[in-house]
Amino acid sequence: MTVYQMPLRELQSLGELKQVEARLREICRGDDQWTPLFSSTVTGGGKRLRPALVILCGSFLPAPKSELIDVATAVELIHAASLVHDDVIDHASSRRGRPTVSAQWGEHQAVLYGDFLFARSFSLLTKHGHSGILGNMTRAISLMCEGEIEQFARRYDCSITEADYMSYIHKKTAFFLSACCLAGAEVCGLPHVQRKLLAAFGLQLGYAFQITDDLLDYCGSADQTGKPVLHDLAEGYLTLPVIKLLEQPQYRVRVQDIITQQDFGAENLAYIQNALEVSGILVDIRRKARATVARAKQNVGKLPSKPQRVILSRLADYITQRSR
Ligand code: IPE
Ligand code: IPE
Ligand code: MG
Ligand code: MG
Repeated sequence: MTVYQMPLRELQSLGELKQVEARLREICRGDDQWTPLFSSTVTGGGKRLRPALVILCGSFLPAPKSELIDVATAVELIHAASLVHDDVIDHASSRRGRPTVSAQWGEHQAVLYGDFLFARSFSLLTKHGHSGILGNMTRAISLMCEGEIEQFARRYDCSITEADYMSYIHKKTAFFLSACCLAGAEVCGLPHVQRKLLAAFGLQLGYAFQITDDLLDYCGSADQTGKPVLHDLAEGYLTLPVIKLLEQPQYRVRVQDIITQQDFGAENLAYIQNALEVSGILVDIRRKARATVARAKQNVGKLPSKPQRVILSRLADYITQRSR
């Protein structure tokens, strides 16, 4: 086990997260013949980062356990629903090392199953009457949709800037991670100032998380990530690595040609991968992700000195060093 995998293993052995797994197994299937077949997409694999954030942030003070488990389960269901839909939009064949619902059962079933998971999540969130958490989660979902809509609308658009990119990832990823931290803080009744610190932590963590996800698409391995690599560009999404490449005069013309002609053959993809390496862009982006994590950790440093604080900091470090 490498040092960087440690926080994830540690997390997955948390008693509360094991209870979340059990709840997920019950809730991601209906009484029909089909949803149990689709449910392995929720029960198998997945880092469980979002429920872990709920549990950790919800353990700074004694919290009603069943509420915490339900809210943690609900956020994983929202996440899973968004992935099932995202895989339809991105024409993705694999997720968490298995075929996606859309690849195996068709897009029609995947759209419906994603909606089913959202509905299951809302049932859990309404159960304990936390209207604040429900409100923030529905805001996270609407922002996630806006982010995905904007990103999709600008496929193959070489005028996209780093600021545009940061706005998309705020909406599609960072706000939701922040909402997970805030939800935990609300369940355990942390004072307002500490809730704000955890929300700010989650936001920075979310930026770093998506920046790293987008890097892994260029330099990760499908065996580790469990999903296709070199897939973003092929779908027309210009993420930070390519945005930075387009800023460099020596690469701009060829990269722009490749993108506008949608000519993503092996030779062109190898050219882009090599350019990202030799230009130092990959190193640069990793540095940016680490700096973002450092900002996230500054917020955690101001929280009460509890074991959760240390785990959150280590989790933040893991976010940029992960390979899956
Ligand atoms: C994938 O999230 C979607 C992004 C926001 C990048 P994760 O990388 O957390 O996916 P799982 O849950 O571990 O499969
Ligand atoms: C995140 O973006 C998707 C959602 C927020 C639903 P990606 O499209 O990069 O996620 P992956 O790479 O497919 O997991
Ligand atoms: Mg995707
Ligand atoms: Mg991705």
